[in-house]
Amino acid sequence: MKTTLIDLSYLIAAALFIFGLKRLQSPKTARGGNLIAALGMLLAVVATLFLHRIITPIEMLAGLVLGSAIGAVLALRVPMTAMPEMVAAFNGFGGLASALVAIAEVARYLIPETTGLAALLPLPVEQPPFDVQLAITVVLSILIGMVTFSGSFVAFGKLGGYITGNPVLFPGLRLLTLLVALGTLVSMGFVIAGAETFPLIADPVVGGMVALAGLALVLGVLLVIPIGGADMPVVVSLLNSYSGLAAAATGFVLDNTALIVSGALVGASGLILTRIMCEAMNRSLLNVLLGGFGGEAGEGSAVATAEGKTVQEATVEDAAILLAYANKVIIAPGYGMAVAQAQHQVRELADLLQERGVEVKYAIHPVAGRMPGHMNVLLAEANVPYDQLYEMDEINDEFESADVALVIGANDVVNPAARYDKSSPIYGMPILNVDRAKTVLVLKRSMRPGYSGIENELFYLPNTRMLFGDARESLTKLISEIKAL
Ligand code: TAP
Repeated sequence: MKTTLIDLSYLIAAALFIFGLKRLQSPKTARGGNLIAALGMLLAVVATLFLHRIITPIEMLAGLVLGSAIGAVLALRVPMTAMPEMVAAFNGFGGLASALVAIAEVARYLIPETTGLAALLPLPVEQPPFDVQLAITVVLSILIGMVTFSGSFVAFGKLGGYITGNPVLFPGLRLLTLLVALGTLVSMGFVIAGAETFPLIADPVVGGMVALAGLALVLGVLLVIPIGGADMPVVVSLLNSYSGLAAAATGFVLDNTALIVSGALVGASGLILTRIMCEAMNRSLLNVLLGGFGGEAGEGSAVATAEGKTVQEATVEDAAILLAYANKVIIAPGYGMAVAQAQHQVRELADLLQERGVEVKYAIHPVAGRMPGHMNVLLAEANVPYDQLYEMDEINDEFESADVALVIGANDVVNPAARYDKSSPIYGMPILNVDRAKTVLVLKRSMRPGYSGIENELFYLPNTRMLFGDARESLTKLISEIKAL
């Protein structure tokens, strides 16, 4: 009866995960999808703890309240620009948890019944033998979990500016990485080879496991430090996939279906997301992982000189008139909108223009910002109607009929060099055709480059006007100027 109930709960939880994931496909249904998947996880956790009687209901409630409170405070306090960091930390803890559970599973065989610890980590009544199959799942769990843990925290450090965002490359790095990777394989071999005689002869398994955990931690660091800070979102997405794989491996260790299913779903979706990000940047995953690209903006990057080229600066009054008397305005938001937290002002300006009879649409580039769906999330927060948001492919032909393309803190995703300059690091990346609008109005603070560190010729085109300043401040001024017209 108990097993049937657990299996049923896991089945419902798995269905909720899949249903939730499916709803993440559109910003309209994403919030609901998130909630549904979270409910699935709650069901899986409660069913496991409650039906296995692992802890008392009071302890469970206390854990739920404490965990939810920590999660809620973190989620409410984190600024949108720090979201990739937070995801990195979550992935890291997920990986660590998987590795620790696998280690605890092995430790249970070694703890004598007489110690207090045996009560904390009791052996199941029918303890399965520690065989080769179990050893393989244990080592995979520790390897992937620990690599995810240390790699994610390096990504966290780079994104948060706690360690340098530049690629850290030193002579012998690749060789060292290879040696450490070989070391992890050897330690895994010790654990697997020692499985048959464990726990009678414990040294090969315990020694191998400790060495594996240590080397995997080093490997995670070595794999992520050569990658530039700006490429971290792709790395975080990949590590997210790893954390899922680690959880799935732990699911096999514990023979827990819910963990296997949820881990596999995270593993697969993380991998798909990584692929989407790479395709949208027109770079291969290998190119991202081998590093060197995407250091801190400007440093070591090929910033072309602006000699002989002139920029046409607009005043707030010019810009207000351009927008207020246009028939059609297409807004192209980018990372700068997120930095300035200008989404509410963007919405206010759009509303104001629409009241004046201007047609307003939003053009969303798939990698605008620093994480997938970054612009959608921000604009949704400001309650911009979803039907005004257009994917790049849907709207790119419309720029020619737009009077103004309003570029708000976007740079790389509107850089025409991506179309033809084979020497450009962003060559081949599909871009928003803002330059084809009658006038391009760009809101940014300076002539500084964006993520890829390269100059943008858009800013020098005869139909471009630059309105310098923080996007939120510029928009606020524009709104009051238009209101006064
Ligand atoms: P970027 O090319 O990074 O340009 C952002 C621009 O915003 C900067 O040039 C900056 O210029 C401006 N800015 C910063 N703070 C501002 C503020 N307070 N007010 C006004 N402007 C401000 O952004 P993008 O066009 O969105 O392109 C995204 C880039 O990130 C792409 O290269 C993409 O490949 C990469 N990337 C994206 C993702 C995902 S999934 N979205 C993941 C990894 C990498 P100033 O300093 O002069 O103001």
